[in-house]
Amino acid sequence: MATSPPPLPADFAPMARGLAHEIKNPLSTISLNAQMIQEDLRHVRDVVGEGSMLADELARAARRADGLVRETARLRDILEDFLRFAGRVEPDRQPVDLGVLLDELVAFFDPQACESGARLRYLRPEKPVVAAVDARLLKQALLNLLLNAVQIMAEARAKRTPHGGAADLLLRVEEPAPGIVSIHVTDTGPGMDAATKKRLFEPYFSTRRGGTGLGLPTTQRIIEAHGGRIEVNSEPGRGTDFTIHLPVA
Ligand SMILES: Nc1ncnc2c1ncn2[C@@H]1O[C@H](COP(=O)(O)OP(=O)(O)OP(=O)(O)O)[C@@H](O)[C@H]1O
Ligand SMILES: [Mg+2]
Repeated sequence: MATSPPPLPADFAPMARGLAHEIKNPLSTISLNAQMIQEDLRHVRDVVGEGSMLADELARAARRADGLVRETARLRDILEDFLRFAGRVEPDRQPVDLGVLLDELVAFFDPQACESGARLRYLRPEKPVVAAVDARLLKQALLNLLLNAVQIMAEARAKRTPHGGAADLLLRVEEPAPGIVSIHVTDTGPGMDAATKKRLFEPYFSTRRGGTGLGLPTTQRIIEAHGGRIEVNSEPGRGTDFTIHLPVA
């Protein structure tokens, strides 16, 4: 009979954060030394010159040093992604007009959307929609959704996966009930199947080439730390709508 693994200790999250921090310092020393070896080798190659007997061996050592530098950089990125996800989320909630917050986000993200071949539209609310949020964290949460949409739409176009038409991305705000605001991020991408939908918020779940799988779990942690929730509606071949529901106060 299969046995389930023992439960993790309650202080597992701070332990994992501590471990990641502990690894970061020696890793940056390794990385720095690898870069210095790279430079030293370049210098020796310049002195020795091209045709010398040592040139081949130096070229081999340089390739190994390049590998070290590349892989330490990759490890640093993995740790930074993890620390961003597992770090404490303590929103400093202040009254913010979401219309203005989204203006700023759209101005920031639009060039990237265009570059990726997506058309970002923003249905701006006509009157102020004020909610108590941490503007920086909410922008980070929304940015993960926008990034996913443009990346996944571009991938679908490149692979000719069925999708919902042009690469449209729509951002809009609604007030579905008193005291609640909703922000929709809707794309006309490939949508997702039931198996993907089930695992979306699992840390390190990704179907994207080069994806880490921490974008959505990070977004979910931020929204839940605001007392809100995130909902997904997706139709394979048509597109996906992520909705963030937030309490206004
Ligand atoms: N708009 C979307 N349409 C279709 N599938 C999506 C969409 N957004 C997310 N997904 C699916 O959810 C998975 C997890 O998304 P998440 O943002 O957590 O990770 P990622 O984008 O793969 O990597 P990372 O954000 O860490 O770079 C994606 O790999 C993809 O399979
Ligand atoms: Mg992502």
